[in-house]
Amino acid sequence: SATDEELHERIRAAKETLGDKVVILGHFYQRDEIVQHADYLGDSFQLANAAKAHPEAEAIVFCGVHFMAETADILSAENQAVILPNLAAGCSMADMADIDSVTQCWEELTELFGSEPDAEGKMPVIPVTYMNSSAALKGFCGENGGIVCTSSNAEIVLKWAFERGQRVLFFPDQHLGRNTAKAMGVSLEEMPLWHGRKELGGNTAEQLMDSKVILWNGFCSVHKRFNVGQIEKARAEFPGVRVIVHPECPMDVVDAADEYGSTDFIRKAVAAATEPTTFAIGTEVNMVQRLAAQYPQHKIFCLDPVVCPCSTMYRIHPGYLAWVLERLVAGEVVNQIRVDEKVSSTAAIALERMLAAKP
Ligand code: 13P
Ligand code: SF4
Repeated sequence: SATDEELHERIRAAKETLGDKVVILGHFYQRDEIVQHADYLGDSFQLANAAKAHPEAEAIVFCGVHFMAETADILSAENQAVILPNLAAGCSMADMADIDSVTQCWEELTELFGSEPDAEGKMPVIPVTYMNSSAALKGFCGENGGIVCTSSNAEIVLKWAFERGQRVLFFPDQHLGRNTAKAMGVSLEEMPLWHGRKELGGNTAEQLMDSKVILWNGFCSVHKRFNVGQIEKARAEFPGVRVIVHPECPMDVVDAADEYGSTDFIRKAVAAATEPTTFAIGTEVNMVQRLAAQYPQHKIFCLDPVVCPCSTMYRIHPGYLAWVLERLVAGEVVNQIRVDEKVSSTAAIALERMLAAKP
């Protein structure tokens, strides 16, 4: 509509005035009206690197969710401001693990296992947090010999952790943890689930002793919606369909799919297909619809027939983007995400370990 066009015009004008002073980062799950203004589009790993790579910009406007903006603040230069256009853009999965509950869990595990390395120098437990978590949890990992992972490097990071520890405490996403560890040969018996507010997370001491990965009880409400029935239906309707899902999907869905990987993995898999192909994709619908529009030679659809956007990613509306940019033009920084200095320095350790981890 005319008002939408006006809004885009305002965004373009403000960007033009700001020039190199601002860089706009956008996650693949952002709506098209935002994506068209992003200088860089990426998955959470790529955007963390992008935040580090632009020290010349005075401001980084992050079109994504809160934990991503926090990470950008930690990795960006001291004098750069990271801006989240709508402060209500959080992540329900990240909220499922808070620092108090994780600390409580850690204390119970320390009591059970002690905190001394074994004869091989391996620690009893290495904490690993998914990028989709608060800065406080990344700081916790930095302080306790742990590391951060994203969906694109979870296997590399778990390997890093197994080299240094007898087992891993993985939070918040049980599905990413389970799917990744399973692909590395860890059995389901070796992956107990930690339920909050229960002694030993509802497990026996033996179960924890024999464990390789202790999984936190978190999940993504968007990816939890995908199920095996949808995959069976797609296969029945479209023989030869390629089913690709995100590792935040439940294990039976990942097992029933042909391939799984991060949002960038999915994007590259579609881009690399040389023959007209039918793709059924199990991830956020804004990204799937964009792929469908971008590659009309393929048939691309979302596995979930009921449209399932990430409602918090969707909170970044062009109106907010126009507002934060125009405030910048006027010399005012609004909606700045600032991570406490102490948390930031320990979280940076865990993030830098991730960025340095090699396959
Ligand atoms: P990636 O960006 O790592 O693919 O993760 C998807 C996601 O859930 C981001 O919130
Ligand atoms: Fe969080 Fe899921 Fe949305 Fe990603 S898709 S931001 S994990 S709620």
